Amino acid sequence: MRYLVTGVAGFLGSHVAEALLAPATTVVGVDCFTDYYSRATKERNLRRLLRSEKFTFVEADLRYADLSDLVATTDVVLHQAGQPGVRTSWGEDFAAYVDHNVVATHRLLEWSRRADIRRFVYASSSSVYGNAESYPTSEANLPRPFSPYGVTKLAAEHLCGAYAENWDLPTVALRYFTVYGPRQRPDMAIHRFVRAAIEGRDIHLYGTGEQARDFTHVDDVVRANVLAAWKPVRPGTVLNVAGGSHESVNMLLDKLADIMDRPLAIKRSEACAGDVGNTRADCSEAARLLDWRPLVDLASGLTNQVEWQLAASGMGRAGSLGRGRLSMSRAPA
Ligand code: UGA
Repeated sequence: MRYLVTGVAGFLGSHVAEALLAPATTVVGVDCFTDYYSRATKERNLRRLLRSEKFTFVEADLRYADLSDLVATTDVVLHQAGQPGVRTSWGEDFAAYVDHNVVATHRLLEWSRRADIRRFVYASSSSVYGNAESYPTSEANLPRPFSPYGVTKLAAEHLCGAYAENWDLPTVALRYFTVYGPRQRPDMAIHRFVRAAIEGRDIHLYGTGEQARDFTHVDDVVRANVLAAWKPVRPGTVLNVAGGSHESVNMLLDKLADIMDRPLAIKRSEACAGDVGNTRADCSEAARLLDWRPLVDLASGLTNQVEWQLAASGMGRAGSLGRGRLSMSRAPA
């Protein structure tokens, strides 16, 4: 199998591509290094992949480059690229969301329908639901995005549906719910909270902290992608992929304080526009069609991310757990 992973230098793309190396004949990764966060961080994400002979990196921007030849020699496209960030999608920045999330997906779908693609996996988002009609939310709920970001993720998902219906393109959209774990994007809550705690700075909590998320560990998201790449499902399928770890942000902070064995300094500010009150998924369709269910519970997943951030910051080592707590000692050089 020849795989093409877009957004390969990002949090999810790099993990998905790494998981595909073993079963793949080749993995081609594409990224354009947007300036949403640093190029250095993304280059670190690529390090492990670049050591593999099966992996080829292509620096290209899906909005402008012609990747039709590349797609024509691909069996499975895993489209993880996009402009993320719920809270920053207002105002002038919206154009970037439309371009990176809608226009880029449209171009990739066009190349894919002309090629003999076996599967097109699209990284969608829980943000398509907005404040959902009901919880746990199934795919049958009417998506009503609450942020401009969510609107663009839903638009691209509908594009996948249209290409599936008109051209029989075998698309599958996976709606990820607040993904965390090693290499988590630096703008996301857990990354920011852990980093502030390590550096002894205040944590900024938006709103009451009673907003809740169905936190999902990246390993579970990767497994859903690998299964979606080959399981025989109907073109146009849409599936929730959520961790089953439904917690308020306040509870999350309590867990982090416990894992890091230190009190956290929390500074409260206004709730952010576009931020929904609750996400909680019904994942029975993913269980039925992909035989997928989340395996990483929040306590182990958070410990895993804290260890990674400690190691990345030069504080402590991966595996430096002491009696259920993390050692904050400086790692040897
Ligand atoms: C996340 C991702 O950023 C989106 O790309 C993804 O599509 C989305 O999940 C999704 O599942 O649809 P979000 O749930 O907002 O969006 O994830 P976090 O950035 O981890 O925020 C979680 C909660 O913590 C939010 O209520 C946010 O307001 C809060 N938060 C975040 C803070 O209180 N302080 C911070 O510094 C950051």
